[in-house]
Amino acid sequence: MNLIEVDNVSFAYTEGIPVLKNVTFSLNSGSVAIIGQNGSGKTTLVKLLKALLKPNTGDIFIKGVNTKETTAAKLAKTVGLVFQNPNDQIFKNKVLDEVMFGPLNIGQSVEEARENAIRALETVSLVDKKEENPYDLSLSERKLVSIASILSMNTDIVIFDEPTIAQDWWGKTKIKNIVRDLVDCGKLIITITHDMDFVGECFQRVIVLSRGELLLDGPTREVFSKEDVLRTAYLEPPYVTQLCRAIGYGGVFLSAEEFVKYYESSLPNS
Ligand SMILES: Nc1ncnc2c1ncn2[C@@H]1O[C@H](COP(=O)(O)OP(=O)(O)OP(=O)(O)O)[C@@H](O)[C@H]1O
Ligand SMILES: [Mg+2]
Repeated sequence: MNLIEVDNVSFAYTEGIPVLKNVTFSLNSGSVAIIGQNGSGKTTLVKLLKALLKPNTGDIFIKGVNTKETTAAKLAKTVGLVFQNPNDQIFKNKVLDEVMFGPLNIGQSVEEARENAIRALETVSLVDKKEENPYDLSLSERKLVSIASILSMNTDIVIFDEPTIAQDWWGKTKIKNIVRDLVDCGKLIITITHDMDFVGECFQRVIVLSRGELLLDGPTREVFSKEDVLRTAYLEPPYVTQLCRAIGYGGVFLSAEEFVKYYESSLPNS
């Protein structure tokens, strides 16, 4: 049984204006990036995965359960969704209370919830801010609080909507490490992003949406090799991939680190 099964799903907010059209894919563990131009249906798709919306036609199964027969609240133990804007997610006036809310809500004892919340705050390096009001923190820190409040529930599926927005180098590095650590723990990480460099560095699989349809689905290197197809969806590969191609390298390089390793190993006295 797949962790997530999306079977021929179509969805419209307004009758006659389809947002998703006949989308089919399945996911298990690992890291998956969902990319696509603005309005292509990415956020709608993850809201469907979380049962916040229900398909008009087709079905979505989460661990074998049809989302039409469950609720977002019932799925909370399995699917964690970090919102695009932390201000839409955060509602407590103390960081620790915010991060403990999820675990308490899924039935953990206060001690257990506190332990999990502290561990999640350590992961995002914000444990020293646990007594503060989230609204006294920077936007970047608030985003990390919203990430911690999902990590504290230890769900099998973690979905991030645009996690690197408003993050500086430190915050981005932190988020990249969180994604890699979650994958190492066997979780399924789904991330919506416009940041192709982040996709190249951290994600094993890429799903491309274009005008509500699934345009490409495959290993990251394979998807970023299809520059012409990507261009039809107004997308382009990471900068390093484009640069290496422009200066004549045949391979698809997904990160600067990968290219530097390749380059150094090709030097005559290496
Ligand atoms: N609540 C809503 N009611 C009506 N239409 C909506 C609603 N939410 C989104 N839409 C429309 O559905 C389409 C897909 O929106 P969605 O937010 O899923 O796209 P997206 O790929 O996440 O875009 P972005 O990259 O800008 O975040 C857009 O045309 C959008 O205007
Ligand atoms: Mg969106």
